Amino acid sequence: MAVISVVLGSIAVVAFTIWYYIHVPLSLPKNIPRIPIYVSLLGLWSSMGQDEIYEKWLREPLERYGAVKIWFAGQWSILVTKPEYLTDMFRNEDVYAKAGSQVKIPWSVISSLVGDNIINSHGENWHLYTSIMKPGMQKRTWDAGVMVDDTRHFIRLCLQQQKDLSMQDGVMVNPLIQRWAIQIMGRNFLDTDLQCLSFPDVRLETLQSIIKRTLFKPLYFNFPHLDKYSAILRSRARAYAIMKEFGDRLFALSRALPRHHPVDKKQAEDLQVVDLLNVALDKGQINEEQFRANIKITFLTAHENAQQLLNSIFWELGRSESIPMQQKLRDEVLNTGVDRPSTELLNSMPYLTSVLYEMLRLYPPVSQLINRVTITDTILGGNIRIPKRTWVGWNAYGAHVDPNSWPSPYTFKPERWGETVEQMQSKFRRDCVAGRYIPFNAHSRKCLGQGFALLEMKVVLFELVKSVTWTVDKTYKLKLTPGGILAPLGCKVVFKEVARRHDESVQHQ
Ligand code: HEM
Repeated sequence: MAVISVVLGSIAVVAFTIWYYIHVPLSLPKNIPRIPIYVSLLGLWSSMGQDEIYEKWLREPLERYGAVKIWFAGQWSILVTKPEYLTDMFRNEDVYAKAGSQVKIPWSVISSLVGDNIINSHGENWHLYTSIMKPGMQKRTWDAGVMVDDTRHFIRLCLQQQKDLSMQDGVMVNPLIQRWAIQIMGRNFLDTDLQCLSFPDVRLETLQSIIKRTLFKPLYFNFPHLDKYSAILRSRARAYAIMKEFGDRLFALSRALPRHHPVDKKQAEDLQVVDLLNVALDKGQINEEQFRANIKITFLTAHENAQQLLNSIFWELGRSESIPMQQKLRDEVLNTGVDRPSTELLNSMPYLTSVLYEMLRLYPPVSQLINRVTITDTILGGNIRIPKRTWVGWNAYGAHVDPNSWPSPYTFKPERWGETVEQMQSKFRRDCVAGRYIPFNAHSRKCLGQGFALLEMKVVLFELVKSVTWTVDKTYKLKLTPGGILAPLGCKVVFKEVARRHDESVQHQ
């Protein structure tokens, strides 16, 4: 009898604990639907991509209500896609305050990686980090020249790998793209040639693949409380060790650089983020922990989004239906008659611009983020009552495929952006401000690297279509990432060198 009581008692305790952990708090708004918790846990047993999950469980309620309650990283949160709600959230950072994993789950592996940094901080710290780092992220003009050289090196590596395979088999592009993206980030933000394209095993680069695999393991991503048990879970102990190795290596590299002390704002703009952070640490404006967090987030954010967007470009423009678009882009590029594109030229090309904007619409790398917390009771968009201390976030993919904002939303259609670069830029700005198009977020916390990222992607598109044609390997079936950064997984493409035009080859002789 006593044994039965103990067993029943234990079952009751376990059941209560699970209920307590996953029940929906009564204070959350009643006038929006709840997405069943198993949808957030699909990664544990299914291999569905973000697009499939969105289509099956999120699209209908989000299009109807504009917001839903969803379980995310161990919390019930509110996820928003309706443009009016998004702009309310983005405009009112003093109500919907940025709060990343360092606030939500401070003990976790991800928090040990990112710390309190320019993207996830709020208030005084954010102002401090921005005042130091912004000149290194938002230059009046970025130089396309160095990016061209690295991009050509990357294309040579793609062609080399193709040569080593038969012409039917595609090259697995992601590993090469990662090396390209980190190389370009290093030159422009770390003031360092990391030599990632010359060597396949630069440790700071290879660590990234391990970090990405580690962070998005569905079990630990959904139940971050497990990170507390690294003493018994070897996989967690390894995860912390990997994050530490990355942090220590990057810190040592950054601090070994020579110092440049800017005397005014103009000089600060000629410096890179690492230089600005070094001076701030030397002067005691920030402490070592803040230095580490900000240099790591710069490393991560300045390569990962570009990396995944380029994966999406290879997929979207390499599909057989898209070959005419790839050719149209090639025609625009070859018609310039230019071998080395300048920043001005790249910014004046309409089709190139529209392809890039449309890529960011259908494949926004940062497709979903829930990293804000309400600091007072509030009413989102005058309609959804949200209590203080509720986690709130957005889904860019959802906003970008909402038929109320985008006719035929699932069709890749660069023409929807207009005919001239001016028309396109003005639509881009209007849609960002109105919350219909948020690949870089909007309002006070929008991406500081937007100008750099757009130029980098224009360089790679220009150079690719000029030198190669590519088609997706016939055996490849599209599978988007199940969570985290949005991109096709394991895409393989077949490259062919573009034959040089006669007039061009004469010019180059
Ligand atoms: C295709 C490339 C990129 C995309 C799609 C992208 C997207 C975004 C998004 C969506 C946010 C908002 C995050 C949030 O709400 O928490 C953001 C913020 C930010 N991004 Fe980017 N980003 C890109 C490239 C870059 C690059 C190259 C840098 C340069 C270091 C950069 C630096 C930042 C910073 C500093 C913030 C935080 C701004 C703030 O909160 O004040 N990004 N980015």
